[in-house]
Amino acid sequence: MRAAVLEEFGKPLVVQDVELSDPRAGEVLVRLVACGVCHTDLYTASGADPSGYAPTVLGHEGAGVVEQVGEGVSSIAPGDHVVTLFSPQCRECVHCRSPRTNLCLAIREQQNKGFLPDGTTRLARDGEPIRHFMGTSTFAEYTVMPEIALAKIDPEAPFEHACLFACGLSTGLGAAMYTAQVEAGSTCVVFGAGMVGLGAVAGCRLQGAERIVVVDLSEERLALARGQGATETMIGGADAVERIVEATDGFGADYTFEATGNVAVMRQAVESARMGWGLCTVVGVAGKGETLDIVPRFLIQGRRVCGSSFGGVKGRDQVPELVERALAGDIDVAPFVSHTLSLDEVNQGFELMEAQDGIRSVIRFG
Ligand code: CU
Ligand code: ZN
Repeated sequence: MRAAVLEEFGKPLVVQDVELSDPRAGEVLVRLVACGVCHTDLYTASGADPSGYAPTVLGHEGAGVVEQVGEGVSSIAPGDHVVTLFSPQCRECVHCRSPRTNLCLAIREQQNKGFLPDGTTRLARDGEPIRHFMGTSTFAEYTVMPEIALAKIDPEAPFEHACLFACGLSTGLGAAMYTAQVEAGSTCVVFGAGMVGLGAVAGCRLQGAERIVVVDLSEERLALARGQGATETMIGGADAVERIVEATDGFGADYTFEATGNVAVMRQAVESARMGWGLCTVVGVAGKGETLDIVPRFLIQGRRVCGSSFGGVKGRDQVPELVERALAGDIDVAPFVSHTLSLDEVNQGFELMEAQDGIRSVIRFG
């Protein structure tokens, strides 16, 4: 099959033929139809991620059709439409059994090292194994993944929209819906109007927030935020906290969300949360070694800070529910897809991201 291989950090991906072997017990072969190009792929390709490795097949925002299942697979059958989950859900580990987290422990260790749960790879080139990326490796025509890392979705959902639920969109929606659990009638502030921030805006709207203030540096993205339900928008800057506090009767917001990954902005998100009960949810990923500065008085006064990975979404249960809400017209997914590319154009997806051109590039296979 054709796949985009990260050969060397800081160099373009090389689209080439690689070998993919059949699914083993508990595994599933998926034919990919669409895959988003996400910042985490670029982060790893650049070499900035200290835990990154090469060669590997990148990609983790995939959607496709099940072609074949391995021994013992019972929840998924050939022909099913699925979304890939870099954050699996085994439904059995101590974290899966708790409603408080989505961080499944079942296959973490092997996945982080680039292997499938049994400690081997299905990817190879000239007989030499190639490691998997995030347990997904979806910049490829096919992938083999564990059953517990696939969400079965409504076949009515268009693949180029469904794939965004594999990472960015679910992360934003979930931050508002599952991590912060925004209450109806509340005031929310979202810092950053990229894929994740815009998802958080939509999540706040679905939760019935009364005011949704969005802060970003781009007028274009602020316009998209209004399309997702932002009631007020502002250009960010050093005085953003002051302006938010002023706009909220001197108190700050009930809920704030940080979706830029910039630690100075994270501090603003903490400080613009309301005294007494304001909750700041950190979703943006900071650079290696960076820390978040918080004046302790802000916490003593009742502000709280939390964060989540993949928006706290329990993938197999909740991704299908979110896709259903999109099909029902509650989430307007089309504006997020700014470019459609072929697999051969994957590096162009990275270039568009670096130029901050649009929200998401989606690869269409075949
Ligand atoms: Cu991602
Ligand atoms: Zn689990």
